[in-house]
Amino acid sequence: MKGAEGKGEKQMELTILYDFVERKLGDDVTGHDLNHIKRVENLAVRIAEQEKRTPEEITIIRAAVLLHDVIDEKVTDSVAKAKQEVMDILEESGATPDEVAVIQDTIENMSYSKNLKQKHKLTKIGEIVQDTDRLDAIGAIGVARAFYYGGSKGHEMYDDTEPTVADQVDESSYRKSTNVVNHFYEKLLRLEESMNTLEGKRIAKSRTEFMQSFLAQLDAEIKGEA
Ligand code: ADP
Ligand code: NI
Repeated sequence: MKGAEGKGEKQMELTILYDFVERKLGDDVTGHDLNHIKRVENLAVRIAEQEKRTPEEITIIRAAVLLHDVIDEKVTDSVAKAKQEVMDILEESGATPDEVAVIQDTIENMSYSKNLKQKHKLTKIGEIVQDTDRLDAIGAIGVARAFYYGGSKGHEMYDDTEPTVADQVDESSYRKSTNVVNHFYEKLLRLEESMNTLEGKRIAKSRTEFMQSFLAQLDAEIKGEA
């Protein structure tokens, strides 16, 4: 660690985290790429300002956004190793133990699948990161990412089966689906009700309406009615 050791004088060096994330996610083709991170970072800062978070808190939020997908099992072969690398890079960036604790709690507990059985209570900072990551899975960008992800996994766009009933999704059945339209019913249309912040709820409502109208149009076109 370089520079002043004085309390609160030094902020985390986000550029160190950017370089790390670029190395880790630079060649991802499943929708966890750097553009996802940039969109979430921009929107998270805007929501955090509206929620009257301090500049120090906004730095923690940005750090958590940058790191949140590095430990995802869809991105790494070893979650344990990735978690250790995140700890190491946070130390290198000059994060304090308190900051590390909030970032760790956020990125390890914010995911949809982790909260299916029981909702983990996040910090205010974690709630903003969670909302923003989820907002990037809905609306027009959500539609694009879902089909992009499905294509990368060789899934069908849709099939003849009935969509999953949302209430029946649990940790074992979630992610078993192999058609993209089903993913809207098992997850994407449900994200609106999980929003923590006022602004998150407002954006989620309009993005969800967009997805519903997209699905209605898609259904009509599949049936040859539109
Ligand atoms: P994030 O890490 O951003 O919270 P996920 O890791 O859950 O999101 O997924 C990344 C993107 O891929 C999201 O937009 C999500 O909707 C999409 N996705 C994940 N699983 C599926 C699936 N089974 N079918 C279609 N899209 C999926
Ligand atoms: Ni993400």
